Amino acid sequence: MTEQLTVEAITKGFAHRKRGFQPVLGEISFSVEEGEFVTIIGPSGSGKSTLLKVLAGLELPDSGRVCLEARPITGPSRRLGVVFQQHVLLPWLTAEQNVIFALDADGRSDRSPAQKEELAEKWLDLVHLSEAADKKPGQLSGGMQQRVGIARAFALESEVLLLDEPLGALDALTRHSLQQQLLHLSEQEKRTFVLVTHDVDEALMLSDRILVLSQGPGARVQQDIRVPFGRPRDREAVESSEDYLGLRRDLLESLTSAAD
Ligand SMILES: Nc1ncnc2c1ncn2[C@@H]1O[C@H](COP(=O)(O)OP(=O)(O)OP(=O)(O)O)[C@@H](O)[C@H]1O
Ligand SMILES: [Mg+2]
Repeated sequence: MTEQLTVEAITKGFAHRKRGFQPVLGEISFSVEEGEFVTIIGPSGSGKSTLLKVLAGLELPDSGRVCLEARPITGPSRRLGVVFQQHVLLPWLTAEQNVIFALDADGRSDRSPAQKEELAEKWLDLVHLSEAADKKPGQLSGGMQQRVGIARAFALESEVLLLDEPLGALDALTRHSLQQQLLHLSEQEKRTFVLVTHDVDEALMLSDRILVLSQGPGARVQQDIRVPFGRPRDREAVESSEDYLGLRRDLLESLTSAAD
């Protein structure tokens, strides 16, 4: 396995008008192998979204660097796809047009309009949204809008997908079914994933490794946990396995102590 993404001793903070410079990320280092699914979990406000933005090249670290296959990331790249915490769909475009818009914007000139339409249809179908392809975001439920965001990120064919709570703010049933879809997609597609979530069960179900961030200021990777379940994964088999409850308890304990 080769290391695809390496995070080398990055720090990041923000200057506040009244409180001066506030550190958010302490020295953070880890690497992600090609095809690996890594989840970042941590208390609210610990800096998970900030870390993901640095990985995406949307924010630059104050020190240290992030490399994609040994080359420093200095700005956004189409090799790195992002799904944000809030789905950011253009309200005047339909679901399908939103996906096509992203394909238009990604700077690849080798796709014809028909190919883009085909790609958009394929990914909307894979997240079970074919019926809603012609609807605008205002006519879609929150869960459907999040699925459009996921379809859009996958359609871009970026090698690394960075997902910031893509299933946040959903009811348990929709979340459960979207986790299933995400599991399926991530196992079919040999891409590298970095997911941010609050949900311990989601992390255990989807990931190969889980990094627990400590509460900031100056958050660090407090724990790096390998998830031992084989692939393809089956939820029932995972949840009934001997390791599951122990890992879940360790993770919850680690999160609680991270928040102290
Ligand atoms: N652009 C910014 N300017 C100033 N401060 C910021 C900025 N972005 C993030 N912060 C601060 O950095 C800290 C971490 O924020 P971040 O959004 O990364 O946390 P998080 O772990 O993703 O939280 P949540 O779980 O609630 O999404 C917070 O204190 C936040 O106020
Ligand atoms: Mg966040």
